[in-house]
Amino acid sequence: MPEVMIKLENVQKEFRLRGNIIRALVDINLKINAGEFVVLMGPTGCGKTTLLNVMSGLDLPDDGTVILDGDRIDRASEERLSDIRRRKIGFVFQDFNLVENLTAIENVEAVLWPGPLRTKEINNRAMSALAKVDAHERMNNHPKELSGGEKQRVAIARAIIHKPRIIFADEPTGNLHHAAATQVMELLKSLNKEMGTTTIIVTHDKNLVKYGTRLVEMEHGRIIKS
Ligand SMILES: Nc1ncnc2c1ncn2[C@@H]1O[C@H](COP(=O)(O)OP(=O)(O)OP(=O)(O)O)[C@@H](O)[C@H]1O
Ligand SMILES: [Mg+2]
Repeated sequence: MPEVMIKLENVQKEFRLRGNIIRALVDINLKINAGEFVVLMGPTGCGKTTLLNVMSGLDLPDDGTVILDGDRIDRASEERLSDIRRRKIGFVFQDFNLVENLTAIENVEAVLWPGPLRTKEINNRAMSALAKVDAHERMNNHPKELSGGEKQRVAIARAIIHKPRIIFADEPTGNLHHAAATQVMELLKSLNKEMGTTTIIVTHDKNLVKYGTRLVEMEHGRIIKS
C-alpha cells in the first residue's frame, strides 16, 4: 500500500464578501500519496489557492477533515500549524516572496534562524541548497540583482533547506519566461525524484502537465478530475 501524504474528506470552505457567499471549496475529497507530483489546474477563481492553503495549514476549512502526513490539521491551533509547516512543508510562490534587503544566501539561511544550529552549519546548508538549484554563484546578490528565474531558484533553495516532505508551489512559473519556467519545472521534478518530495503545483500552463505524475482539475470549487 502506498503511503498517504495528504487526505481530504468532505472539505468545505466559504468566503463572505459584502453579503455574498462564495463557495471556494465544495465537498472536496482527495488523496495524495507520498512521492506524487500533482499538477492542479482550473480557471481563475475556481479555488486552487484556497485548496493549497487548506492542504498546507495556511488556512482552515469550515468543515471536513484534512490529514497531512498523519497529522489532523483542520482544527489545529495556529501554533501547531506553524510547527507542522516549519518541519514538513516547503512553499514556493508566484512572486518569489524573497526579502529584498537580504542577499540570496541570507534569504535561504533565514529559514533556520533562530534555531539550534550553529551559524557555520546554517551557512553550509544554505550553500548546498543554493548549489542544488544552481544559484550558488549569485549567493551574495540581493533579489533586485537577480533574474526572475534566479529569484525563483533561490526561493526553491529556501523551500528545501529543511528537507521538507512536501512542497506546495502556487504558480511557480507564472512570472517566468519559457526557458526559466522549464528550468524551474525540471528542478522541482528532480527534487521530487531524488528526494521523494511530494509536490503539488498550481499552474495555468497546459505545457507543464507533462512534469506531473497526476493532473487534478477544479471548477467552481469542486474537483472535476483527479
Ligand atoms: N480571503 C478571501 N475573501 C473573500 N473571498 C475570497 C478570499 N480568498 C479567495 N476568495 C474567493 O474564493 C474563490 C477562490 O479563490 P482562489 O484564490 O482559491 O482561486 P484560484 O483558483 O487560486 O484563482 P487564480 O487562478 O486567479 O489564482 C474566488 O472566488 C475568490 O474571489
Ligand atoms: Mg490562485
